[in-house]
Amino acid sequence: MRTLRAVAELRAALAQTRRAGRTIALVPTMGFLHEGHLSLIAAARDQADEVVVSLFVNPAQFDEASDLDAYPRDEARDAGLAAQAGAHLLFAPPVQEMYPAGFTTQVRVQGPLTEELEGAHRGAAHFHGVTTVVTKLLNMVAPDVALFGQKDAQQTLVIQRLVTDLDLPVRIEVAPTIREEDGLARSSRNVRLGGDDRRRALALSRALRAAEQALAAGTSDAATLLAAARAAMDDFDVEPEYLALVDPEDLRPVATVDQETLLAVAARVGQVRLIDNTVLSPELHHRRGYADGDPPLAAGVNRTDPQEV
Ligand code: PAF
Repeated sequence: MRTLRAVAELRAALAQTRRAGRTIALVPTMGFLHEGHLSLIAAARDQADEVVVSLFVNPAQFDEASDLDAYPRDEARDAGLAAQAGAHLLFAPPVQEMYPAGFTTQVRVQGPLTEELEGAHRGAAHFHGVTTVVTKLLNMVAPDVALFGQKDAQQTLVIQRLVTDLDLPVRIEVAPTIREEDGLARSSRNVRLGGDDRRRALALSRALRAAEQALAAGTSDAATLLAAARAAMDDFDVEPEYLALVDPEDLRPVATVDQETLLAVAARVGQVRLIDNTVLSPELHHRRGYADGDPPLAAGVNRTDPQEV
């Protein structure tokens, strides 16, 4: 695997790939790779001949300078993991390559997709930073397919919208959330969970599971499901920034879970802000059901299927 830092080098390398008739997948990352990223690289290998992993901690999407400063970085480790996972090329540009002097353009998806949930708490500017850098990466790499994780459910909706609205010639694939054995969603930020905060971080996945259990027990009223999720978080003494049941396409709040519904949560645990989500499907849950003592949200999947855990 080669590591490239300049856009011109990247374009030259990928022009050769294209001339050879080979297809290209892009896995955009901010580094400090974990199992979630590696599963995206594995999925990318199934979708295209060559896999480009981008590694760029994008200052434009951080709303807090302290979060940007504390964001874990280890390029040598990332390069080793990406190579092992089968990536062909690592694109790791310095900030001046992505945002050279004089840079003034921003790409924005407007409206509820960027203003609700994460947008309401972090500010829509977070997503404007994401869409700007993703547009640049898609222009630089011109991949056939780009892969993103379901853990950032709202981000995937925003990126789908961006690609549709700007007629970008790329297919967007969303891969399931990868979890630790105990249910915690994998995130580069997890390494910053010190002491008891690692245990308290389970509040998020347990909240999702509590709602799933309540749904399986026959409750479809959103307020009741949210109350069950909230109670699970209280057990860990973790206050949600938001805990919301919304339409998975447009993020509008729902009153009843009578079709697929996104349950999304964000919370600060110690110094670390975490997010998680699951898609509640009344059909699946009424058919399968949860029993007391079932394990938490399954490792490796987002939509839980207790029969197969
Ligand atoms: O999901 C992320 O890691 C980032 O938001 C992304 C898509 C790499 C853009 O910086």
